[in-house]
Amino acid sequence: MTQRKRIAVIAGDGIGKEVIPQALKVVEAAGAAVEFTEFDWGADRYLADKTTAPPDGFSNLARDYDAILVGALGDPRVPSNIHAKEILLGMRFKMDLYANVRPVRLMDAALCPLKDVEPKDVDFVVIRENTEGVYGDVGGVFKQGTADEVAIQEDINTRKGVERIIRYAFEYCAHHKKLDGSPRQRVLMCDKSNAMTHAGGLWQRVFKEVAAEYPKIETQHMYVDALCMQMVRDPRPFDVIVTNNMFGDIVTDLAAGLQGGLGMAASGNLHPGKTSMFEPVHGSAPPIAGKNIANPFGAILTAAMMLAHLGMAAESAKIEAGVLEAVRQKKITADIGGTMGTWEAGDWLAERIARR
Ligand code: NAD
Ligand code: IPM
Ligand code: MN
Repeated sequence: MTQRKRIAVIAGDGIGKEVIPQALKVVEAAGAAVEFTEFDWGADRYLADKTTAPPDGFSNLARDYDAILVGALGDPRVPSNIHAKEILLGMRFKMDLYANVRPVRLMDAALCPLKDVEPKDVDFVVIRENTEGVYGDVGGVFKQGTADEVAIQEDINTRKGVERIIRYAFEYCAHHKKLDGSPRQRVLMCDKSNAMTHAGGLWQRVFKEVAAEYPKIETQHMYVDALCMQMVRDPRPFDVIVTNNMFGDIVTDLAAGLQGGLGMAASGNLHPGKTSMFEPVHGSAPPIAGKNIANPFGAILTAAMMLAHLGMAAESAKIEAGVLEAVRQKKITADIGGTMGTWEAGDWLAERIARR
């Protein structure tokens, strides 16, 4: 018998608690050989006993699980966001999950706000550096609460960190195909090296050096502002985009808009060979939480991405095909033009997949 893969599940806060049960149901319906262990990390636990992640939490995850599936973290009852920062950024940083892979794919023309854009026109991936940049929490405040207050937030760019994420992007390009089966061809590095010259200079130099190792892959560069404009004008030329932590965060919410919104966007936080973490791009969406209206497909497509990563390509493909069918048949939530609730959309999909 195949060994079941062990999945740690952190539904988290807000709509995370609604979309993750749909993802678990669909993974089971696809017949994936997995077992789930649920963790209560999130705002409720933090408010009850002040625990964000237990002291040995990350080492236990790395030791005992094959992958981690997360819903979302963030709750208005914790205005400092301390629990989300320690849990989510804790996993990314302390488990060294340096590559945040965010595929951008349009399932149906009806979901895209751009006119005359078809699914084949939106098929790219953003590879976001996930362990440094301005997220490194280096800095401080001086003279807080006075008229002379100073706040410093340093942008950390290490040679090692920049090189490994750029190399990851080239490797991704070399080994992944587009949805139509054609090879991926181009890596675009996105920065702001015209204004942020020190960090940008390092990214520029490393990009040229690593690119030289991949002579068959085309290279391109864009400043992040121009890239945002181009992405909404015409997403067709994009293929593999590599960028820093903050630009990757912003650009992937913009790119989610091309897919039908945040409810459709999946992501993985990876370090080859280590226990990796998968989460939808969206957050906990407090205003719509608990109303059974959140779109579960981002979380479900994230679970499919996790299964593919764990070697369950057939189960992953079954889920993606099911979501495509649901979109075409309008078995969808209101954010993408349907009338179904979160649970109803999840149930329909699980039933459909189980019958395949
Ligand atoms: P958000 O992604 O939660 O919501 C942005 C907008 O998208 C809202 O209008 C929301 O209703 C909508 N939306 C998001 N997901 C949806 C879904 N599945 N179905 C339908 N609509 C959806 O971002 P925000 O409002 O900026 O942040 C809310 C909280 O989530 C904050 O605490 C933030 O820090 C946190 N957050 C967490 C993560 C994460 O855990 N990975 C990611 C982003 C934001
Ligand atoms: C994301 C989120 C996080 C980020 C927040 C919640 C810290 O926006 O995963 O995209 O900025 O990385
Ligand atoms: Mn984000």
